[in-house]
Amino acid sequence: MSGSQWWIAAGLLALTLLPALGGITLLADLAGPATPERARFHSSPLPIAIHAVGGMVFCGLGAFQFLRGLRDRHPRYHRIAGRIVLPAGLAMALSGLWMTQIYDFVPEQSWPVRAVRLLFGSATAVGLVLALAAMPPRTSKPAWPRSCSPGPFARAGPSPSRKPQQLRMLKKMQRQPRWSSQAAI
Ligand code: HEM
Repeated sequence: MSGSQWWIAAGLLALTLLPALGGITLLADLAGPATPERARFHSSPLPIAIHAVGGMVFCGLGAFQFLRGLRDRHPRYHRIAGRIVLPAGLAMALSGLWMTQIYDFVPEQSWPVRAVRLLFGSATAVGLVLALAAMPPRTSKPAWPRSCSPGPFARAGPSPSRKPQQLRMLKKMQRQPRWSSQAAI
């Protein structure tokens, strides 16, 4: 995996650090007595708890979904993480929209701030639903065994030295869309 890919994950994690620390502090705070600045969170703790946990999982785990090397080498990890990251992101975005509607205004929350929250919350939710729709379907049967991956002879034509089984596999692979090879690994 190239170093620049790790920089992407490191950058995303760095951006997450402050809100994540805020989330941890907030969750600890919810267990204690209400303070005037956080009275709204104490009166309706559910959306902010969902939001903080969802946001931390989405950003923390999601940063690694961009690493192509990790994706290629550990596709099973990528798929399992994706199934956690996606609902966590939706929970974060939808609870963000929920809070925008139900929490009382505090002086620093002007209408432009609310509008930005509505915009980013909706855009995040729509983006995640589109990502879900774009996911390749799971195939129950592998399209080919690992040992016969398309690799070096994917574009090659038939050769007399190839076994009939290999040729059948090659033809099958050439007929299949590209993503089905990844879904099957
Ligand atoms: C779609 C993007 C997001 C939207 C629309 C959104 C929306 C909101 C809203 C409306 C609040 C309540 C603010 C208040 O009443 O004071 C809030 C608070 C919070 N959000 Fe988000 N948020 C988003 C992303 C994130 C992410 C990615 C994280 C964490 C990694 C995060 C962590 C927090 C935390 C910790 C609080 C509590 C802040 C405090 O202690 O005052 N949010 N968010």
